Amino acid sequence: MNLLLKWAAERLHPHTELSKAELAAVLELPPDPLLADAAFPCYLLSRKWKRPPAVIAQELAELVHDPSAGVRAEAKGPYLNLFFDPAYWAAQLLDTILDPEYAKSSEGAGQRVVIDLSSPNIAKPFGVGHLRSTMIGNALANLYRFSGYEVITVNHIGDWGTQFGKLLEAYARWGDEAALKREPIRESLRLYVRFHEEAELDKSLEDAARRWFWKLENGDEEAGKLWNVFVTFSMEEFQRVYARLGVSMDYTLGESFYNDKMAAVVKQLTEQGLLEESDGAQVVRLDEEGMPPCLILKSDGTTIYPTRDLATALYRKREMRADRLLYVVGAEQKLHFRQVFSVLKRMGMEGAQHCEHIAFGLMKFGGRKMSTRRGQVIFLDEVLDEAVAKAEAIIAGKNPELTGRREIAEAVGIGAIVFGDLKHNRQLEVDFSLDEALRFEGETGPYLQYTAARACKLLDKGGMTMEEAAQAVKEGALRGQTGYLALPAAWTCLKTLAAYPQAVREAVRANEPSLAARFLLQAAKDFNRFYHQERIISDSPDETRAKLVLVAACAQVIRSGLGLLGLQSPRQI
Ligand code: ARG
Repeated sequence: MNLLLKWAAERLHPHTELSKAELAAVLELPPDPLLADAAFPCYLLSRKWKRPPAVIAQELAELVHDPSAGVRAEAKGPYLNLFFDPAYWAAQLLDTILDPEYAKSSEGAGQRVVIDLSSPNIAKPFGVGHLRSTMIGNALANLYRFSGYEVITVNHIGDWGTQFGKLLEAYARWGDEAALKREPIRESLRLYVRFHEEAELDKSLEDAARRWFWKLENGDEEAGKLWNVFVTFSMEEFQRVYARLGVSMDYTLGESFYNDKMAAVVKQLTEQGLLEESDGAQVVRLDEEGMPPCLILKSDGTTIYPTRDLATALYRKREMRADRLLYVVGAEQKLHFRQVFSVLKRMGMEGAQHCEHIAFGLMKFGGRKMSTRRGQVIFLDEVLDEAVAKAEAIIAGKNPELTGRREIAEAVGIGAIVFGDLKHNRQLEVDFSLDEALRFEGETGPYLQYTAARACKLLDKGGMTMEEAAQAVKEGALRGQTGYLALPAAWTCLKTLAAYPQAVREAVRANEPSLAARFLLQAAKDFNRFYHQERIISDSPDETRAKLVLVAACAQVIRSGLGLLGLQSPRQI
């Protein structure tokens, strides 16, 4: 909750017959922070009080106005504007913000959320969609944990399905073990592409592939062995990507994990009379929901993606005891999830209404889309390498003396990609430009990281640590010095920092990391304005101390927020 709105609610509560929570929900932050610190729209009371809003605003202004307690109130048309005198309130705000646990909450206490994220496919490149899922899912997991939820992250690896039949058939025909060891994903991809090319000419290949998958699902040893080779090598490659992105999942449970749990699903569907035959296949009709039928078993009796997701959801609900199931998966799978969730409801799964598809839009690189089938692939490790190399060149230009440049470039290059993704509303399509994402002066990850490093550098230069800043506030070192924090740039900055808990909360409620990302950009912008307008380290120890405490608060919030989004914040850049 925004601290200023909370205070405003406390002031208004005795005079409005509205609870503090109700007030907090309707109080507004004016678009221009200099206009007021909080505003109450009085038309909300005019029906009940049978007076025009402007009159109510006047009445309330008189009741709430209390300069001796640091609160000014002014009627402005239908609004009651409130101002909190920084001399009274700045220290209290800073004390809250400098708490290392600032903005952490227990809002989700007692609720277990299972987040399905990343979920790349074995033997295929780690796609851009999987990258978005990894980043958004990781940020959500962090945001939920920070808000007191118990989070379990699961990487639902695509390691099962007809495509493995294709791969095994291709490997049997044209496979090269050494190549597979060396470059598992590129080699798998070559096999996959070749399979599709040759299958256009020779239809018997598809049948052979189906047979392989049938064998695999039915426990054939040779098929299982070959399959294992693909899985092992691909997983090693994915693991390298996760290490670079700084992401780790609680569980990696591929689709194959549910192989022995599928019969029970089919049995239940049959017993409940939900399965129907359609062209030899078994489906659940979803006419009532206005959707095409959900395919459960193919005509040869093999299972399919939705079947595995049914088994997965039931497992997460029953065995993992999830209260909520989130699926961070591209928007192109909307229908799939609507179908799966509808079938779960029909099956009577308890809490089926708490399954949510957290959809996101496509990401293109310079207008290029990816397609595995045609072999037009942008490899993620290449994108990451390029980002890091470019970041290193920029950093070398900015700060040639910097030690440990390689690691810092890794953090900044990868941060650019992560933030370049997360700053957009997840539903939107992103046309990603690396140069854009790396601009230190734009709305980018490097800009935030650089801002945080700038704040750290100021603290170093002024000889103040974060702990000392917090201690100074607690010991009342700001008493009589808050005039420096009443400077418009300082007070605006402080007020923005006060909105951090609200930003976290809204990001969680909307499953939208971009709300946290946008907040951080605002905080950085406000901090930089303060930095450019004010001399922070001066001859006056009191002034320097007061300003440095604000710098510490900015560093604390920006670094905390970057961490939630999955970015590192190097102390030096
Ligand atoms: N492996 C799938 C794909 O790449 C995504 C899996 C998403 N999670 C799920 N439970 N269906 O399309």
